[in-house]
Amino acid sequence: MKRLGILTSGGDAPGMNAAIRAAVRTATRLGVQMVGYLDGYCGLVRGAFVELDDRAVGNIIQRGGTILGTSRCPEFFDPEVRAQAANQMKLDGVDGLIVIGGDGSFRGALALQDECGVAVAGLPGTIDNDVWGTEESIGFDTAVNTALLAIDQLRDTGESTGMMFFVEVMGRTSGAIALHTAVAGGAAGVVVPEAHAEIGLVIERIRETMAKGKRSHIIVVAEGDEAGGAFGVAPIIGKALDRPYRVVVLGHTQRGGRPTMRDRLVASEGGAMAVEALVAGRTGVMIGRQGGRSVEVNLRDVVNNGHPPVNAGLLRLAQQLSG
Ligand code: F6P
Repeated sequence: MKRLGILTSGGDAPGMNAAIRAAVRTATRLGVQMVGYLDGYCGLVRGAFVELDDRAVGNIIQRGGTILGTSRCPEFFDPEVRAQAANQMKLDGVDGLIVIGGDGSFRGALALQDECGVAVAGLPGTIDNDVWGTEESIGFDTAVNTALLAIDQLRDTGESTGMMFFVEVMGRTSGAIALHTAVAGGAAGVVVPEAHAEIGLVIERIRETMAKGKRSHIIVVAEGDEAGGAFGVAPIIGKALDRPYRVVVLGHTQRGGRPTMRDRLVASEGGAMAVEALVAGRTGVMIGRQGGRSVEVNLRDVVNNGHPPVNAGLLRLAQQLSG
């Protein structure tokens, strides 16, 4: 392996830059050149790339977003477009590819490997933490910390005014951001797509705490909940409790910002290991986190298993600690 490509795909996530940096510098140590394709798979298809050396990735470890740009690239669903991309890689002299993204991006990577014989490695990079085979994806920790900051601030105004707040967090169809934010933010309740039916329990619990004199309530709602996110859930709970409320949608604020120590660390280990795997001839792997360590996981298992189940223990804990 003489020359590797790297790209970021799907939604950007804080820590992606740290992963790019680690991959490039590991490649340099192993005598391998590295190029960065721009704007995800779209850049791969067009052959739009930049050469990446140690200096090109200086001063980026602390920056959110991705220096390579990212996109969702629907054309890549087409096998002919993938063949064109593989051909483009040959023309660019690139013989392996690291894809930083979510499971949709990995599906594209695996197809590129299966159909065109391209060596690929995946790094889970998405704030949603919805990738099978890893306990945490790059960007998740930062996104949850961003949501926590907002919740801590809302607590001040909630406590002063007695207002109830419904805070909508991202996560697409996954409730992982919502659950972790709710537990770490001491929320009065949480509503996630995987357990929408428990909304009745949330109402009951808040009613009990109100009767005991609790003044302000923060309810974290995952954007993917079937009621339609916080704007759908708020009237249901607000009406049942007959309380005034406000809805706060954190939206893309959760995607930006300086990555936390955890995200930088996970990204740095992952970026290094992805390069090492490809250089050693191991293709079709994802560098995930299991038992608090970075490990190689079979990319096909990741794609075939779909999204991991909700953390039922954390859901119970969120309910148990609301008081
Ligand atoms: O997958 C990351 C994510 O931020 C999701 O949490 C969210 O649903 C989606 O991307 C938003 O996508 P877009 O930026 O395309 O609106």
